[in-house]
Amino acid sequence: MIILAIETSCDETAIAILKCPSGKILSNVVSSQIKIHAKWGGVVPSLAKREHLKNLPLVLKKALREARIPNSKFQIPKIDLIAVTVGPGLEPALWTGINFAQELAKKWKKPVISINHMEAHIFSVFLKNKSFGFRASDFEFPAIALLVSGGHTELVLIKKWLDYKIIGSTLDDAAGEAFDKVAKMLGLPYPGGPVVAKMATKFKNQISKIKINLPRPMLNSKNYDFSFSGLKTAVLYLIRDLKEEEMNIDDWRLKAYICHEFQQAVIDVLISKTLRAAKEYKIKTIILGGGVAANNELRKQLGEAIEKLHPKPQWLYPIPSFTGDNAAMIALAAYFHALKKEFIEPSNLKAEGNLKLS
Ligand code: KG4
Ligand code: ZN
Repeated sequence: MIILAIETSCDETAIAILKCPSGKILSNVVSSQIKIHAKWGGVVPSLAKREHLKNLPLVLKKALREARIPNSKFQIPKIDLIAVTVGPGLEPALWTGINFAQELAKKWKKPVISINHMEAHIFSVFLKNKSFGFRASDFEFPAIALLVSGGHTELVLIKKWLDYKIIGSTLDDAAGEAFDKVAKMLGLPYPGGPVVAKMATKFKNQISKIKINLPRPMLNSKNYDFSFSGLKTAVLYLIRDLKEEEMNIDDWRLKAYICHEFQQAVIDVLISKTLRAAKEYKIKTIILGGGVAANNELRKQLGEAIEKLHPKPQWLYPIPSFTGDNAAMIALAAYFHALKKEFIEPSNLKAEGNLKLS
């Protein structure tokens, strides 16, 4: 089965072609709009829509060419299925991908499957450079997925394939969003996650006189919910206080210290809740997914914490090229839904900005 998947939920226009069940990635094209949105310090939905509309035909052409699938007026490409992200995400952006999928489905007469973007981040852990790096039969349930992206922070309990229950989520800002906002406060470029992470690695010693202590919001709350807005505000007040004390906030050593402490506060909360859930639900597999899964320190510390668990769950996270948004993960999620014949009439496709996993 050859699946062509389309992803336009945020600021990446992506199309991938996957051969299943081997999971061979025939092509994986991602056209990033970061440079366009960076000027505005965040993603502007109307600009994202305009760029997706412009990029989609070009990205499709490139994806088909890389996969060596002929496509001409006279020849329908050898694709068995079209998959498209329908949410969560920015609705104007999602609609561009949906309308494109509808056009292709009509022109090529192919079935369509709609995919939840967060579900696809779970499947991203199975993608390897060239193929599906895992045998589905090796996967052990129950599993838990810590999904950390620009728009979401969720702990998802997975009792069997395609069976999801959100046991905790953020009450306000997502983890990635907090990274982006803290970067902005420090005058660092968008997207903030990778820059804050890089600055944090430069932190060596505490700067004399200053001791930074940031809160770990909801660390001890009894539920599995998160809240990062208070932490972000704590950084705002910290910067204000440092300026009042006539500290030079442009000193990179001070910025590195703030980034390090902020990152550690986020990591402490994420790890503590994930481990507590792993114990309570007797979890056999822990998954980390979403853009923030690119954070080396989070991966390292979560990995070390999992090592100490008895019995030790298996631990899966995406390779670096699949942490951020891509369409290969959409295609792989679609394969599992195709096995259950969960097709959708193209005219019934609808963008759902707040789509939940269930
Ligand atoms: O999953 P993703 O690519 O897009 C959404 O679905 O939102 O996640 C993007 C988020 C951004 O907030 C970005 O700053 C964050 O992931 N991010 C990181 C790192 N790389 C990307 N956050 C922390 N550390 C990183 N290394
Ligand atoms: Zn994402």
